[in-house]
Amino acid sequence: MKILVTGGAGFIGSHTVVELVNAGYEPVIIDNFSNSETSVLDGLRQILGREVICYSEDCNNADALHRIFRDEQIEGVIHFAAYKAVGESVEQPLKYYRNNLDSTMLLLETMQQYGVRNFVFSSSCTVYGQPDQLPVTEATPRKPAQSPYGNTKAICEDIIRDTVAAKAPIRAVALRYFNPIGAHPSGLIGELPLGVPSNLVPFITQAAAGMREKITIFGSDYNTPDGTCIRDYIHVVDLARAHVQALRLLDRQEADSFYDIFNVGTGNGNTVLELIKTFEEVNNLKLNYAIGPRRAGDVEQIYAQVDKVNNVMGWKAELTAADSLRDAWRWQQNLIKK
Ligand code: UD1
Repeated sequence: MKILVTGGAGFIGSHTVVELVNAGYEPVIIDNFSNSETSVLDGLRQILGREVICYSEDCNNADALHRIFRDEQIEGVIHFAAYKAVGESVEQPLKYYRNNLDSTMLLLETMQQYGVRNFVFSSSCTVYGQPDQLPVTEATPRKPAQSPYGNTKAICEDIIRDTVAAKAPIRAVALRYFNPIGAHPSGLIGELPLGVPSNLVPFITQAAAGMREKITIFGSDYNTPDGTCIRDYIHVVDLARAHVQALRLLDRQEADSFYDIFNVGTGNGNTVLELIKTFEEVNNLKLNYAIGPRRAGDVEQIYAQVDKVNNVMGWKAELTAADSLRDAWRWQQNLIKK
């Protein structure tokens, strides 16, 4: 069964391509390589021992989408392709709204034209803001988005919900990712941040590699056990597998129209300091870090309640933060050798 994977050369997309092949699906990547590199395809080839179909096109290009749906006989879509830099989205909101909303609408329209039903959407725990109660369940009210990026995730969820509610023959799942980290255990694919990373783990691995002088911990005066923020860090391979389970859930649906939302996390929170210490322990090295001021827009703590995804999708995180940090470091070391 051919599954169109938009943004399939990206961090989560590429790991999902591997898991799709492992599960017997045939992924078809569409990626404009605006935030990824074609070397990812070499990594995929080495892991899988074969080529993956890849179109170097923009998923906002209606003609390209038509051609691919028609020529490849697409039977499902996983939509990763989106701009995702929180700070940039504040500076260039229209770029984010135009790209992230248009692609989602165009995909839903094209799916209906070609009778394709199954749609998995990359959402984010950012839609919860700083929740009033922890852990967050899917019923926890969303908060107004802190950034245009976060708002595109909330609006896309609503676009999908409303499309399904209008009885479009679409079966959709939105996965609210917590904090994806790590890399494929082979060390052949992983995260490829452009420029100075803003996310914690790429910053840690680059600091460990000597590319950054030190890590700044953004705030140590939060109301948490060690004063640093808490997140639910999930191994990207576990997250990738959740997409396979989501497709299986959609395949099992009998109704023509279906929409549901799932938190995808481990259910455990870790502080920034805990993550740094675990990185040092599992990789047997020392990091240079210092406490700095809080970063604007950061929430104090968030972690998932994962009962729904466990019970309904039959998916559970199997890898630990230690696994993630070992794999992320292996990937960073391979990047340096290249
Ligand atoms: C951020 C976004 C989230 C988005 C995700 C995409 C915000 C508020 N959230 O998540 O919407 O889906 O990226 O990847 O921007 N930290 C440091 N030092 C650093 C970097 C990070 O202390 O150099 C801390 C942060 O303060 C935070 C934790 O590490 O407490 C995780 O940060 P990060 O990896 O950037 O992810 P989020 O901010 O949780």
